[in-house]
Amino acid sequence: MRPLKKVKFVDLSRQHASIRAKLAETALRVIESGNYIGGSELKQFEKEMAAWLGVEEICGVGCGTSALYGALKCRGIGPGDEVITTVHTAIATPESITLCGADIVFCDIEKDGFNIDLDQLESKIGPKTKAIIPVHLYGQPFDVEKARRIAQKHGLFMIEDCAQAQGAEFAGKKVGTFGDAATFSFFPSKTMGGFGDGGAVTTKDRDLLRKIRMFLNHGRESKYLHEFEGTNSRLDALQAALLRHCLEQIDEWNSKRREAAAIYNEHLSGIDAIKTPKKFPNTTPVYHVYVILAPDRDALGAHLKEKCIDSGVHYPYSLNVLPAYARLNQGKGYFPRAEYACEHVLSLPLYPGIEREEIEYVCETVRKFYAQ
Ligand SMILES: Cc1ncc(COP(=O)(O)O)c(C=O)c1O
Repeated sequence: MRPLKKVKFVDLSRQHASIRAKLAETALRVIESGNYIGGSELKQFEKEMAAWLGVEEICGVGCGTSALYGALKCRGIGPGDEVITTVHTAIATPESITLCGADIVFCDIEKDGFNIDLDQLESKIGPKTKAIIPVHLYGQPFDVEKARRIAQKHGLFMIEDCAQAQGAEFAGKKVGTFGDAATFSFFPSKTMGGFGDGGAVTTKDRDLLRKIRMFLNHGRESKYLHEFEGTNSRLDALQAALLRHCLEQIDEWNSKRREAAAIYNEHLSGIDAIKTPKKFPNTTPVYHVYVILAPDRDALGAHLKEKCIDSGVHYPYSLNVLPAYARLNQGKGYFPRAEYACEHVLSLPLYPGIEREEIEYVCETVRKFYAQ
C-alpha cells in the first residue's frame, strides 16, 4: 500500500478551495460596507436558503443551539413542561430544553441505527409532554412521517433538529420541511458549515417565526422598541454573506459526501467485525459523519492514528451518564442501545474533497487491523 500523508478527519481548506477567491472578495466587500449586523446580506441569505429548502421563510440566528432554544421558548414551553429528545445527540439539543426551564425526557435509540427509537418515544409521552425533538443524527434522516403522526396524535410540537443533516432527504423531500419547526447549525464542520458560529430556524407558523426573530434580537423589530425581553443571537452579516457561497455549493458537497460514503461501504464490506451505516428506506443521507460500529474501537482508533489517519467518536458518552445530567438519576445501564453505541462508534474521515485514494487507504488499514 502506498504510504500517504496524514488523512485528516475534515479539511475545510480543501472543501472551500473552489470558492476561496469568492469568499475573500465577499469578506472584503462586507468589511468595507461597514454593515455588520442585519441588513441586506442577511435578508438575501435568508431568502436564498428558504428557496433552497422549499419553505416560505427562514430566520438566520447565532447558532443551532439558539435556534432550538428560540423555537421552544417562543412556542411557550417552560417550567412544568416536558420535552422528549434522544439521549444520543450533541448536548445542544437537551440544553435548549433546560434553557427554557422545561424538563428533559431522554429516549433511547433505534435497534439498527442511531436515531431516536420512535416506538419508545411514544411510550414516554405523558400529560406534561409538550414537544418532541428528534434529531437527524450523523446526517441520517429519522422517519419523519412516523414522527409526525405521533406528534399529531398527541398534539405535540415537533422540532426537527437538522443541525447535522442539511440537505438530507426523506421520500425525496428535504428534511426540515416536515416538522412544526426545524433548526439548522452552520458550525464549520456541518454539511453547510460557515466561518464561525451560525444557525437558522424555520416554521410554517409565521407569527411564531416573527416571535423567534424578535426573541433572538432583544425582543424587538425596530431599534429601540422592545416589545419583550429576549436575548442576542443573530446571524452576522459577514457570516450570512459567506454562507451564500456555501449555499451555492451544498448540493454538490452533499453528493461528494455520498460518493465518499459509497466508496467506504464498498471497501469495508466483507470486514465482518464492523458494521457500516445502515441505509433506511426512503432516506437520502448526507453523511455529516461516516460512523461504523467497531469492536475494540479505541484500539482501532489508536491504530489508525499510528498510520496517520484521524478519526473521531460521536459520542464517547451517552448523555445520561454525563455529570451535566446526574440530576436525572439515569446513570449507566439506563439507555443500553445508546450506551453500546458510545462504546463502539468510530467516525472515519469524510468531507467534500477527500480523495478516493485516501478512503481506500483508510479501509485497507481497518482491514489489516482486524486481520492481525
Ligand atoms: C444535533 C445537534 N443539534 C444542535 C447543535 C447545535 O448547533 P450549534 O453548535 O450551532 O449551536 C449541534 C452542534 O453540534 C448538533 O450536532
